[in-house]
Amino acid sequence: MVIKVENLVKRYKNITAVNNVSFSVEEGEIFGLLGPNGAGKTTTIECIEGLRKPDSGNVEVLGLNPLKDRKRLYNMIGVQLQETSYQDKIKVWEICQLFSTLYSKTLSYELLLKDFGLYEKKDSYISKLSGGQKQAVSIVLALIPDPKIVFLDEITTGLDPQARRNVWEMIKKLKKKGKTVFMTTHYMEEAENLCDRICFIKSGKIRALGTVSELIKASNLQLKVVFKANDLNVDELNKIENVESVKKDGERYIVYGKNEEIVKDVMNYLTGKKIEFREFSIVKPNLEDVYLNIVKEPLEVEK
Ligand SMILES: Nc1ncnc2c1ncn2[C@@H]1O[C@H](COP(=O)(O)OP(=O)(O)OP(=O)(O)O)[C@@H](O)[C@H]1O
Ligand SMILES: [Mg+2]
Repeated sequence: MVIKVENLVKRYKNITAVNNVSFSVEEGEIFGLLGPNGAGKTTTIECIEGLRKPDSGNVEVLGLNPLKDRKRLYNMIGVQLQETSYQDKIKVWEICQLFSTLYSKTLSYELLLKDFGLYEKKDSYISKLSGGQKQAVSIVLALIPDPKIVFLDEITTGLDPQARRNVWEMIKKLKKKGKTVFMTTHYMEEAENLCDRICFIKSGKIRALGTVSELIKASNLQLKVVFKANDLNVDELNKIENVESVKKDGERYIVYGKNEEIVKDVMNYLTGKKIEFREFSIVKPNLEDVYLNIVKEPLEVEK
């Protein structure tokens, strides 16, 4: 275990941004913290990084206390902040060199720039880089101390789909090198693609935690069968075994089921009755469905 968070509470005046959160992160995993705006993700990540002081609870990173052992930990973790603005009139190699002076032991930033496809940009001003290149620079800067854990807070926000995928590849490379990645994102596809485990928070509380398939399973969301046909009897569709409900939208039918059996059952019904249908598809719940389900749930009343 490389990160342990126990009963973390962080308040800002009358807002409880993080409300009794506990979880742990294993070495070498990509751990994603997800949740709506204002859920408490950045506050949590910054308490773990030692940048904010918790009101109560316990945080351990690589066996150290992020506040008391700040100096030692500083050389062991790489941090990319959600809001970073580097000086505009500084060149890529200059900021890399500046960062290199801050740590006791560093990797060659020239090699890192090459690794992340930025070497040709080393003499460019930061202000002249595209959004994706700036994000790549912030990953390089986070990696300069050769950290064991890398923290990435919304690293791909605002990037185009290709640039986002490039960053995904960079993150996968970090995992291959044995690093632990702790990240936040608003892109469900990104989390599904990268994260070994995901923790959903909302209003400062953990709502779900697990692998993508565990989260989907635990959410009890239904499988859907969708097809087009002319004038079907909805009552009959509802009576098919394993069907929970049916929605009709023009010539489109959406059949919700308890399990995967409904695919066969609906198909048997349609073919048995010689009904002509088209565009038949099976839609499995994905992480986005889990997310939307969690976001719409009302929070239980505080006692
Ligand atoms: N420095 C601060 N002072 C006062 N309130 C704050 C401060 N930072 C955050 N908050 C509040 O704490 C709550 C959690 O904010 P936080 O930035 O942790 O959310 P987040 O999950 O990172 O959101 P986003 O997805 O928008 O980045 C919000 O209600 C926010 O307004
Ligand atoms: Mg945030």
